[in-house]
Amino acid sequence: MSANAAARFEDAFANWLGVESAFAFWKGRVAMYAILRALGIGAGDEVILPGYTCVMDVNPIKYLGAEPVYVDIEPVTYNMDVNQLGEAVTPRTKVIVAQHTYGYPCDMEAIMDIAGRHGIPVVEDCCLALGSRYKGKMCGTFGVASYWSFQWNKPFTTGVGGMVTTSDPRIAQVIEELCRHELRGPSLKAASMLSIQRLVYRLLVYPRTTAVATALFRWLTRKGLVIGSSATSEFAPEMPEGFFMGMSAGQARAGLRQMRRIEANVAHRRQMRLAYDEALQRCGWDVTVIPEDMDPVLVRYPVRVADKARAVAEAPRSGVEIGTWFECPLHPIETPMHLYGYREGLCPVAEKACREVVNLPTHRRANEGTARRGVGFVVRLGSPKQRLVGPEQGER
Ligand SMILES: Cc1ncc(COP(=O)(O)O)c(C=O)c1O
Repeated sequence: MSANAAARFEDAFANWLGVESAFAFWKGRVAMYAILRALGIGAGDEVILPGYTCVMDVNPIKYLGAEPVYVDIEPVTYNMDVNQLGEAVTPRTKVIVAQHTYGYPCDMEAIMDIAGRHGIPVVEDCCLALGSRYKGKMCGTFGVASYWSFQWNKPFTTGVGGMVTTSDPRIAQVIEELCRHELRGPSLKAASMLSIQRLVYRLLVYPRTTAVATALFRWLTRKGLVIGSSATSEFAPEMPEGFFMGMSAGQARAGLRQMRRIEANVAHRRQMRLAYDEALQRCGWDVTVIPEDMDPVLVRYPVRVADKARAVAEAPRSGVEIGTWFECPLHPIETPMHLYGYREGLCPVAEKACREVVNLPTHRRANEGTARRGVGFVVRLGSPKQRLVGPEQGER
């Protein structure tokens, strides 16, 4: 790892967010693991998170011998239902993870209030929420620490990649020591493969080619021929060899390049949300109405459809880039959920969202035409006809 490139990326990211420290890692899940280690999480502890997440977010909890406790979501922003949070707290609760799903900010006031009453630290999962704000304040600056992902389909990408941000000097000091003593650098082979993949991605992946590229990418990942988001060994609650890995110089340089256009990235995604809202409204569909003091920057635009399987099957033929997050409460569908303490029926609102929600692109290669085509496609397939208004409007 070139200490220089990674250190420059860490400084740039911390400055942009307005926090004291940042630590770059191979992936977002490694960043989360570092935070949990710094908070001293271990056997018998409980970590609360929404039951509408990625299994890679649950793994670090299990690796440390702690137990995930799932709270159901509310159906508008897909974030943890704060009305159910208090009941989930026990004397063993050691962390609350506030995941800003799709980029919609969590109700941070309620979460910080409940956490504060019980003296529990809040960690923010900002993997999907680059640039989102809650009451004028950046997501990622509320809790004791936050983690970010720079994986292929995240708000900005270094191929794979992750970051911890914090203004807590104690957490920063422990992570610094962990990095000094335990962090491994990626192998030259892994770093080089990732560099080539970033180049291929830049040249070949567009909304109309995404479905083919994704299928090919998954096949190559299974064959071990590319650096994928998740190896087979990561679908088990035991830490695989070499998990605690730092960021390569190539990833850090890619991150630094993206920092130069971070504000344009955020502005574009805001614009895309409005484009989708407008296109849906023109077709007579309801759009997500959220409290005015939430300023979401969406990594993907979620929308509910009558028949998700059909939408996913037909999208490639219609030239529409469609995403399937979250396929089950602990995405993806291959997750052996019983090994992670999730049983069917635990989070019914999340399970319904898993059956209904697809998502559409907001990234830089998507434009108003993409939004019109995507919306035309989902509208043709039909909606589950549900009226969705925000929590403050009091209707669910
Ligand atoms: C909400 C959320 N948090 C964390 C992660 C983990 O990030 P990474 O893939 O960089 O490890 C993911 C998945 O990719 C995610 O969707």
